[in-house]
Amino acid sequence: MRSSFHVLLLPGDGIGPEVIDAARTVMDVAARHFRIELSYEERKIGGVAIREEGEPVTEETLEKARAADAVLLGAVGHPDFDRGPLRPEAGLLKLRKALGAFANLRPVEAIPALLSASTLKEEVVEGVDVLIVRELTGGIYFGEKVESKEKASDLSVYTREEIEQVARVAFEAAEGRKGRVTSVDKANILATSRLWRVVVEDVAGEYPGVALDHLLVDAAAMFLIRDPKRFDVILTENLFGDILSDEAAMLPGSMGMLPSASLGLPGTPGIFEPVHGSAPDIAGSGKANPYAAILSAAMLFRHALGRPDVAGAIQQGVSVAVEAGFKTPDIGGSKSTGDVMRAVSRWTAAGEGVA
Ligand code: NAD
Ligand code: IPM
Ligand code: MN
Repeated sequence: MRSSFHVLLLPGDGIGPEVIDAARTVMDVAARHFRIELSYEERKIGGVAIREEGEPVTEETLEKARAADAVLLGAVGHPDFDRGPLRPEAGLLKLRKALGAFANLRPVEAIPALLSASTLKEEVVEGVDVLIVRELTGGIYFGEKVESKEKASDLSVYTREEIEQVARVAFEAAEGRKGRVTSVDKANILATSRLWRVVVEDVAGEYPGVALDHLLVDAAAMFLIRDPKRFDVILTENLFGDILSDEAAMLPGSMGMLPSASLGLPGTPGIFEPVHGSAPDIAGSGKANPYAAILSAAMLFRHALGRPDVAGAIQQGVSVAVEAGFKTPDIGGSKSTGDVMRAVSRWTAAGEGVA
């Protein structure tokens, strides 16, 4: 078994560096415990890269990403750039495209000790376990854009191949879960969604053990709050997945709890990134919840380094820390980013690792 890996750290903007520092500390503790050698390099992305390197991500940084075993990313974005010609977010989109990271896995799980942090009733949230599989390198995010003072347009394009490859990721994930895929689209209006539906039906034929149903995105947004337990795997396009996953963050109770893995074809490095943004409203205050970044690091061990045992130990460390009351203000506590980092580190090192 390989035991030495190289990780590119891209902390980015706002709370990005704060949560990545916490995640890296936990990774180091876990690596030491499991006798894994991790090497890191840190580069800039987003607003900080625009300021210091003149663009939201440089070609050199993309090269480093391609050469790494995995990328751990914080967040990009800052209000200073809202009106400028260069946007921090463009750096993240370029990175995802450069690595071909077409499948974004966003697991959403209710945590028993956090049921009261959700704005929903406990009985609605208890036991929720949904995996959102979001297409990440196509659709309206990447189509041709026209922008003038009088008129603007964003083109949304999907090809059969793009839909097939992300659909397979969703069906394969469902095989290892409860065996249900809900494909979410807007087929009553959008041509891309009608193609999406046909292709997803075709791919479903390859997975006879998985049940497939379809929901229109407006109804899906409603059911996600009304009865989240009806879902196992949600498969959807780029924009709908972005919106539904922020909505889903209110099931565990905060944006600060949702991790993600952005994966491409086997052999390409994945990007592991919390679902939340740079949270400029709390940056620098010590209030940032690092659990999403720490859980993204666990996904990195599982998906990129092939070490579910290490991932399990980190997840266990997180569960114990949450149960012991290590909660930042967004989940109803008064602990700091550093308090949570130290608690998870302690319990990760104590854990035996549950794969
Ligand atoms: P956001 O996710 O940054 O923040 C939304 C709200 O959730 C804020 O009140 C924030 O304080 C809170 N929040 C988010 N993460 C938190 C955490 N870890 N701990 C505690 N509270 C947390 O979304 P926004 O305010 O709409 O966007 C801010 C900037 O981030 C924008 O520039 C946006 O483009 C960018 N963004 C980046 C990413 C990314 O890098 N993946 C994701 C979303 C938004
Ligand atoms: C996310 C973010 C990004 C997205 C932005 C910052 C490009 O909102 O990762 O969810 O829309 O994909
Ligand atoms: Mn988003």
